[in-house]
Formats: sequence, C-alpha cells, structure tokens
Amino acid sequence: MKGVIFDGERPRVVDDLEVRDPGPGEVLVGIRAAGLCHSDLSVVDGTIPFPVPVVLGHEGAGVVEAVGAGVGHVAPGDHVALSTLANCGACAECDRGRPTMCRKAIGMPGRPFRRGGAELFNFASNSAFAERTVVKAVQAVKIAEDIPPTSAALLGCGVLTGVGAVLNRARVDRGDSVVVIGTGGIGLNVLQGARIAGASAIVAVDANPAKEAVARQFGATHFIDASAADTDSVKAVKEILPTGADHAFECVGSTRLIRQAIDLLDRHGQAVLLGVPPAGAEASFVVSSMYLDKSILGCRYGSSRPQRDIALYARLYREGRLLLDELVTTVYPVEDFAKAADDAHHGRVARAVLTFA
Ligand SMILES: NC(=O)c1ccc[n+]([C@@H]2O[C@H](COP(=O)([O-])OP(=O)(O)OC[C@H]3O[C@@H](n4cnc5c(N)ncnc54)[C@H](O)[C@@H]3O)[C@@H](O)[C@H]2O)c1
Ligand SMILES: [Zn+2]
Ligand SMILES: [Zn+2]
Repeated sequence: MKGVIFDGERPRVVDDLEVRDPGPGEVLVGIRAAGLCHSDLSVVDGTIPFPVPVVLGHEGAGVVEAVGAGVGHVAPGDHVALSTLANCGACAECDRGRPTMCRKAIGMPGRPFRRGGAELFNFASNSAFAERTVVKAVQAVKIAEDIPPTSAALLGCGVLTGVGAVLNRARVDRGDSVVVIGTGGIGLNVLQGARIAGASAIVAVDANPAKEAVARQFGATHFIDASAADTDSVKAVKEILPTGADHAFECVGSTRLIRQAIDLLDRHGQAVLLGVPPAGAEASFVVSSMYLDKSILGCRYGSSRPQRDIALYARLYREGRLLLDELVTTVYPVEDFAKAADDAHHGRVARAVLTFA
C-alpha cells in the first residue's frame, strides 16, 4: 500500500508498505484523508527528533476495516476521526480526565509497519499518511458519515489542538481579549475557538499578509501584518488593546514570538505555548513583569479528551459554528506529497489535505 515515509534523509512516497493486523484493543482504519500539520514537517527538518524510518501523518479520518478482540465502540464500516493519544485508560492521569498527560501515550512509538523486511515506526501513534493504519481503540472516534473525510481529518490535530487550547487549557471567557500569533492550521483553530468562547477582541498576528482574509473568516476582529519591516507587533497589539491581552497564544514555534506573547499580556494575562521550537530551545522573559498574576502555560494537544471533544466539535460543525471545510484549501493525491509540503511550507494553504485512493 501507499504511504509517506521519512528515512532520516528525506520524505518519500512509497507503494510497498505493509501494516500488521489489529491486535487486541486495536483498530485497523482505511485512511480516506489526512491533513499536513507543521509537526510532520518538523520531523523532516529535525525540529522534532523522532526515530526513523517512520510513517508520517497524524491528522486523519477514514473507515474502520477491522477490529481486534475486545473492541466494541466501533465496527467495520464505521467512519472515524483519529486522535494521536494512545492513552492507557487505566492510570491516574487518564482517570482524572487528562489523557494528554498519560505517560503511556508519550514517547513510546510502536512499529506496526513493514517495508522490504524492515519495520517502520508510527508517528504520534497515528501515521495517517498511509492507506491503512493501526491505532488503539481509544484513538478511533466515531463520526457521522456525512462529514466529508477531507474536513473530518482536521479534527484529529488542528481542531483538537487549537480549539482545545482555548476551551480546555486557557478557558477563555466571554468578553476576554485574545491575541493569536501565527494563523496556520493551529492558529486558525485558536481563532475560531476564541470566537466560540465569546471573546471580544481577537487579534491575529502573522508574517504572511495573505493570511488576513482567512484569519478574519475564522474569527479575528483585527489583523496585524508582522512582515512589514517597521512593524513592532507588541506596539501594534497595544494600539488595539492598550492594557494588553488576557490570553496570547504562540502558534509558530519561535522563542522570539514566545517572548512577544509574554510581553503583550495584561495583568492576570496568560501566554499559552502551542508552537514547538527545536528541542532544547530556551526562552527568556522579564521576571518582574510576571508578578502581576501572569502565567505561562504549556499545552499539549489542546489538553483534549478526544472521545468527548471530537463529538462536540462535530456537533458545532453541523450547527455552522465550527468551520472545517474552509480549512481545506487544497486537496492532493498522496503521490503529490512534495507539492503539498511545499505549499504548506510557503503558507499557500490553510491546510493541505492528502487523499488516498
Ligand atoms: N502543542 C501541540 O500539541 C501542537 C500540536 C500541533 C502542532 N503544534 C505546533 O504548532 C505550530 C504551528 O503548526 P501549524 O500546523 O499551524 O503550522 P503552519 O505552518 O500551518 O502555520 C504557521 C503560521 O505561522 C506564521 N508565521 C511564521 N513565522 C511567523 C512570524 N515570525 N510571525 C508571525 N507569524 C509567523 C506562518 O505565516 C503561518 O501562517 C508548529 O510549531 C507545530 O509543530 C503543536
Ligand atoms: Zn499536528
Ligand atoms: Zn493512562
């Protein structure tokens, strides 16, 4: 079968991948569509260190083809969106409703794929850039059949991460002010999360002025073009929010922008870190600025509870309150992965989405 692998040198599309049958508590899913998140590109450029060879992709939707022993919540033929959380369901973190903190769900990649006799790792317990993948049952969330797979695919990372950061981690309240730095697939979902939460001023900042229209479509009330040589983003935000922002989300993965997010906080404000800079990167801030009850919050995967949250987001989509179709700028057959990656890298798309025959 076809898939996109990374061998440590470059990503390549191959057609001789194999995936093993689902074991007890696992599900085999035929992938229909998968979004290209920046984190996939970060594996390729080394920003996110990951063992190789690996089958990329972690934001997908498809149809259940087979289930292992003990799986009862989905059956062959069901449409599902996939999460990246292979959480155990039995530890204290899972028990208290924090599956993103489950230690069994971090840093233990499996090797369900084979190619020419060699085993390949799965990425983010998911590997949605393959015609078929095997995930833990908890990762397969049943969705209605009438959600187009190209849209449903984006639930599994962009929406869970971005909307979840607003609703679950920051807990943005009605009337709050929000700044979103970086309006890619993650930032756009932070914007629409802020709109859904009832934020008043929602300021988007991006170095690509072409993002303004889509940022406003997703909920931005203001847009700051950070590419202009004379733009001081902190000053520009403070012209709109003179006392600063209640919430500032960094959605790029730059230590300079993390500092910016902290510098534009109002009293009691919180900076939420979603972007992933290179492993080992350090950021700094003026310590005395923090005493005014400010916080810096890390956020993994929108602090999500996927079985609950994906069902909620599907409902909001049906009500027209959560945009999914509008995130899908361009659809590419998996063979055109290189073009999709180039378009994503150059900011020509909100999300590039791959499809599988
Ligand atoms: N915390 C998590 O769980 C989690 C989950 C998914 C993705 N991520 C991370 O989130 C980040 C964003 O992912 P994405 O898929 O949205 O990426 P993307 O490539 O789609 O979007 C990045 C956006 O940032 C903008 N940008 C780049 N440089 C900028 C600058 N100097 N100032 C302002 N804007 C700038 C780009 O124009 C683009 O619009 C990545 O670092 C990714 O690894 C984190
Ligand atoms: Zn992602
Ligand atoms: Zn657990």
